[in-house]
Amino acid sequence: MLFQRVKPLDKILETAEKKSLKRQLGAFQLTLLGIGAIIGTGIFVLTAEAGQKAGPAMMIAFVIAAVVCALAALAYSELAAMVPVSGSAYTYTYGVMGEALAWIVGWALVLEYAVAAGAVSVGWSGYMNGLLTSAGLELPAALKAGPMDGGAFNLLAFLIALVVTGLLVIGTSKSAKVNAILVLVKVAALTAFIVIAVPAAKDSNFHPFFPTGWGSPLGGIGVLGAAASIFFAYVGFDAVSTAAEETENPNRNIPIGLIGSLLVCTVFYLLVGYGAVGAIGAQPMFNAQGVAYHPGTPELAAACAGSDALVCSKEPLAHVLKVLGFPGWGNAIGLAAALALPSVILMMIYGQTRIFFTMSRDGLLPEFLSRVHPKFHTPHVVTLITGIFVALFAAMFPVGILADISNSGTLFAFMAVAAGVMILRVKDPHRHRPFRTPLVWVVGPLAIAGCLLLFLNLSLYTLAMFFGWAVIGLAVYALYGYRHSELARGHLAAQGGPRIDPEPPFHEGPQA
Ligand code: ALA
Repeated sequence: MLFQRVKPLDKILETAEKKSLKRQLGAFQLTLLGIGAIIGTGIFVLTAEAGQKAGPAMMIAFVIAAVVCALAALAYSELAAMVPVSGSAYTYTYGVMGEALAWIVGWALVLEYAVAAGAVSVGWSGYMNGLLTSAGLELPAALKAGPMDGGAFNLLAFLIALVVTGLLVIGTSKSAKVNAILVLVKVAALTAFIVIAVPAAKDSNFHPFFPTGWGSPLGGIGVLGAAASIFFAYVGFDAVSTAAEETENPNRNIPIGLIGSLLVCTVFYLLVGYGAVGAIGAQPMFNAQGVAYHPGTPELAAACAGSDALVCSKEPLAHVLKVLGFPGWGNAIGLAAALALPSVILMMIYGQTRIFFTMSRDGLLPEFLSRVHPKFHTPHVVTLITGIFVALFAAMFPVGILADISNSGTLFAFMAVAAGVMILRVKDPHRHRPFRTPLVWVVGPLAIAGCLLLFLNLSLYTLAMFFGWAVIGLAVYALYGYRHSELARGHLAAQGGPRIDPEPPFHEGPQA
């Protein structure tokens, strides 16, 4: 019965046509948009976490995560080009597998977007604290990190999440021009890092290469555990698909944007990983029994006190350059991260509010969430609620734990999308597909298998959080969404429902 509540794809497309955003983004801008959303805390901060989990073999983890993302991106491209509307995996699932699964996917996307925003806020605070310390303005230790990470309340992470939320409430969206500038800043910072660190690489720093082995399911450690965490560094390419409604010739440009941005980032990440490991080593911290500590635990924080190991740093890329004797360049990288990461937070909170908005418009969440501010024309209620939660998460949790929880939601959504592509090939084989996933019966199952492999290599703690969140989600659906669904009540969003100003996530306007 639940699986029969499928929102017809034609209706979804009709909704999109009514909104009529201006189609102005081309392949190059989309690729920049993707790179803007992808490069962030993952490479700037989680490199240390990957080192703690896998040692120098984290480079293999970068490759595994990239391959899984590429497979998922190929599936995403087919649906994104065929159903070029906002809402991402949630909308696709609604159109293919029905409301109950769409709800679960939308609920999992909260982890992908909101929790990720928290992770990036914590990552930003690491670099900002580094800069403040260099300037002689160090905060007390209690305010530099959350309680699991050797502090009490991560003040800067809390504040940046609130500032970004405020900007979104008053209607700041990302301009394509600002995005392009920030992409340049990030790419320049990573290039500077590569140019300095790669030539300093020493053979000895790569031994032992596999200090923690491949890892075991639910262990959250080893190469596969590191791949499951560093996956975060690639998340964001699906932001390209959320701009589908503003893309000219989406059939060609969306796949180019998705896969192009992923490719560029992979090359950068591999070089950065090689440089970081080679320049100063990346051996994990072990306890007395020879077992590597889990990142984001008080035990690791205690073991790291006073250490200048890569795996202990909260600003690992800047740290590598400082250790190599280039403190000026280290601070420049810190500054680049401090400038650029807030845009990733903005994009994540923005994505979250638009997904909530779409779910509310579909009747699965209460109508008040899609209230639009009379003056700013933004969905201020949902933005404020989301932002306050993000700020609290960011203040209390370590970056690695937030990133892992976010990954669990993202991996789940990617599995749903890959399954959706295959189901739609069977259910609706004649629908026009501007982009067809190549070898779909190979790529689709491999994408699902890859996501599942990473999912199962997250820690038990992370998966417990994921399933706890899913149970809460099912309860909310049973008690609210199931009865209030616009589709079940015979209304389709295309025929009414709350509307938001069609403010695109990316535009050429002057806003920052
Ligand atoms: N990929 C994004 C980052 O690393 C989420 O910050």
